[in-house]
Amino acid sequence: MHLPDLRVDELTIRPWQPGDADQVFRACQDPLLHRWVSGLPRPYLMADARAFVGETAAAWQRAGTALHLGVFDEEGLAGSIALNALDRARGTAELGYWTAPWARGRRVTERAGRALVHWAFEHEGLTRIDWRATVGNHASRLTALRLGFRMIGTRPAPDTWLAALTRENLTLPGTEVADSVRRAARVFGGDHPTIQAGTLTLRKPAEKDVSAIAACRNDPHVVRWLGVRLPYTEADALQHVAVNVPRRWSGGEGAVFAVVDRDDTYMGSVHLELTGTDPAAGEVGFSVARSVRGRGYAVTAVRAVCGWAFDTLGLTRIQWRAEVGNEASRRVAEKAGFTMEGLLRRALVIDGERRDCWTASLLRGEAA
Ligand SMILES: CC(C)(COP(=O)(O)OP(=O)(O)OC[C@H]1O[C@@H](n2cnc3c(N)ncnc32)[C@H](O)[C@@H]1OP(=O)(O)O)[C@@H](O)C(=O)NCCC(=O)NCCS
Repeated sequence: MHLPDLRVDELTIRPWQPGDADQVFRACQDPLLHRWVSGLPRPYLMADARAFVGETAAAWQRAGTALHLGVFDEEGLAGSIALNALDRARGTAELGYWTAPWARGRRVTERAGRALVHWAFEHEGLTRIDWRATVGNHASRLTALRLGFRMIGTRPAPDTWLAALTRENLTLPGTEVADSVRRAARVFGGDHPTIQAGTLTLRKPAEKDVSAIAACRNDPHVVRWLGVRLPYTEADALQHVAVNVPRRWSGGEGAVFAVVDRDDTYMGSVHLELTGTDPAAGEVGFSVARSVRGRGYAVTAVRAVCGWAFDTLGLTRIQWRAEVGNEASRRVAEKAGFTMEGLLRRALVIDGERRDCWTASLLRGEAA
């Protein structure tokens, strides 16, 4: 295999050398690398670094199965970039990378990745390069999107994002993703926020909310209009809190908030779903515990979550939908400033049945 010695701006991308072991050892102490890079020995010892730069990388390269390169700037090591699972017959490989903790935030991997991928398409005859990352690794996903990778979907067990890049989709230097995509990476790559809304607080649902959530979901009004599948038990609520909500958050699919009062008692919930195809659009949903209905809590919570979504996620449009006849939900949407747009026929699936629904929207700048 011909070995590249690539340069881009201040970066040099070259094969590993035995003298790089110290810096690789230092970089591989980083907790973020251990969290996101699969197959990294733990603890990562000096012997691992020596073996990798001195033998393993070269052996893979000789066997033609992988190409691992170091990325360097004037200061020394800046990162690692690799083509794994190299299959020349099929013209495919998988891109892998990390930036040394001290070199992050300078688009090191994006720039080195573009140079390597360009070289692989031009000189090695590859036709497709794959990428995968553990769901939740938003910094890596952003890097892949900036390179032009198209997300294919999520593979379960463990949840893994999959993407692929073909030659015609490789971006030019300086290409930027949509503002809402960039913001979503920042937001969902961080912790679930807490939002203050007057006397109410919107926070991550917790285990202590489980019985109140289950009670709310069993309320006939909620069952009727949201189509809750009964029986809905506390175990279901726990699954919701402990698995579904964090999964939706780390996948950047949506944010679910428990709405609590000053005593941190559950009053209801409000959620913001991202629609998937349009990164600047979302949809809001809500429910309020029976005992505290009629106090305006839903309106307060909807206003707060929409304000957060416009300001922090940079959304342009938030949609509300409810089955035709759900007057209480409609009043909430109207009071929160939504403009009714009409009726969508058989657009909402409730209890396995397609129902007609009202639809309304709130645009950025309209939030009350
Ligand atoms: C992914 C990684 C290589 C990006 O390296 P980098 O050189 O710092 O990349 P960039 O300079 O382009 O910055 C990445 C972007 O992610 C953002 N970012 C940083 N930390 C983030 C986080 N925890 N969540 C979401 N986004 C984050 C940065 O703000 C930046 O976005 P911006 O340019 O819009 O401000 C680096 O974070 C890393 O080494 N991670 C650990 C190893 C890893 O995950 N490898 C990939 C396995 S699939």
